[in-house]
Amino acid sequence: MGFKEQIDLARLPEHIAIIMDGNGRWAQNQGKFRHFGHESGVLSVKDVVEGCVEIGVKYLTMYTFSTENWNRPVEEVNALMELFISTINQETDTLNKNNIKLNAIGDIASLPQKCIDDLASAMEKTSGNTRCTLTLALSYSAKWELVEAAKKLARQVAEQKIAIEDINEKNFEAQLTTVNIPDPELVIRTSGEHRISNFLLWQMAYTELYFTDTLWPDFRREDLFEAIVDFQKRERRFGKTSEQLN
Ligand code: IPE
Ligand code: IPE
Ligand code: MG
Repeated sequence: MGFKEQIDLARLPEHIAIIMDGNGRWAQNQGKFRHFGHESGVLSVKDVVEGCVEIGVKYLTMYTFSTENWNRPVEEVNALMELFISTINQETDTLNKNNIKLNAIGDIASLPQKCIDDLASAMEKTSGNTRCTLTLALSYSAKWELVEAAKKLARQVAEQKIAIEDINEKNFEAQLTTVNIPDPELVIRTSGEHRISNFLLWQMAYTELYFTDTLWPDFRREDLFEAIVDFQKRERRFGKTSEQLN
């Protein structure tokens, strides 16, 4: 039996987030330039997005470029920006065909202007879609997001729109870039690295983490289904005891 058949569709995670890692090593293992790995990684993105739509996952968030990734060699950064632009433009029609809404989180203003414009246009063209929301984390880091949220609340206090005593988890959360998106139940990281790398720190407070040695360009929907099957075997206790749950 394949992994897809083992999935309990009634207990599907509503939101899956993925740290897509290992493109560079995948390419270098074959004696190729790192960029070849990034290009090949796009095929994995497409397959995984289709896999989510196939089984009914409502939200998929992909860690595409971190704040820290700006520190990579300028040629690699430029190649990645070009790849984002061409992929966004090439895939907009397919997103519409599959009823997928494109969303982006991160310091979007720091991206090249063409990337900002094409992203805005693709988001506008897909804004009415309802089957799945695909969020790209671009120039994203959780610490950046949390500091921005703190600034927004501080501004509201300074303008006397809210009292300090009234700050709570709910109105703090409302300042995050993921507003209106439920927290991910499952986060997958590929390539054998066991770390979070500044991704969704607030939203991941109670997320199930799944690590695989598979490098991102080798990852396909069957690997996603395997991760979901693993997720569904876990007991999520949220601080309670097992007895309380059963
Ligand atoms: C992930 O693959 C893609 C991005 C971070 C943009 P890497 O480029 O980090 O690949 P490795 O980790 O060096 O193999
Ligand atoms: C994390 O991958 C960021 C993305 C997947 C976009 P990195 O390859 O940049 O992570 P570190 O620096 O090795 O932790
Ligand atoms: Mg990496």
